[in-house]
Amino acid sequence: MLALIIRISLNPVTRSSILGYNRRMQRRSFFQSFVAFVGSIVLAAVGLGTAIVQGVGSVLHGKGKDENWIKVDEIDHLLPGQPQERTISFRTKDGWEEKTEHQKVLIIYKDGEPVAHSPSCPHLDCPVSLVPEAEKFICKCHMSYFDAKGDVIEGPAPRGLDPLPTKIEDGVLYCRWVRYQSGGSQAVEV
Ligand code: FES
Repeated sequence: MLALIIRISLNPVTRSSILGYNRRMQRRSFFQSFVAFVGSIVLAAVGLGTAIVQGVGSVLHGKGKDENWIKVDEIDHLLPGQPQERTISFRTKDGWEEKTEHQKVLIIYKDGEPVAHSPSCPHLDCPVSLVPEAEKFICKCHMSYFDAKGDVIEGPAPRGLDPLPTKIEDGVLYCRWVRYQSGGSQAVEV
């Protein structure tokens, strides 16, 4: 048996085929390691990119919702006690896209204080506009009317105009931009 092993190992044809087999295995092993290495780098890059996008999106979302108050107007510039409209501007970011949004808000006085309200109709989200001479608001989609306090006086709207979070600081009226679901008798934030 030992003599057979020695003969095989000394045989030049057998030795060269064994060496060739070893080299092929080494090349294959190197190739497999290389592919695994490149694959792990690609996966890590994809994971990092996703984390960055999610991180940026959530930070800005949190800021807009919990920290950033949007200036509506100075109290001295408002018409005391009267319903009125203003346009607010604020930055939004969705993934990598950053832009400035302009939105109309409705100012309604409640208990002597101005409160910003959403301009979206609670019926089906159409825009609500002020009718200054009548001191009321109208949604022309299906003709809902709201009085100077924002309550429904006519039409299919299931509730009054939705108030936005509002504060007055150093003589300035601020609000936060919030969207509410249309339909239903209760305002539910989207
Ligand atoms: S969407 Fe305003 S009345 Fe229908």
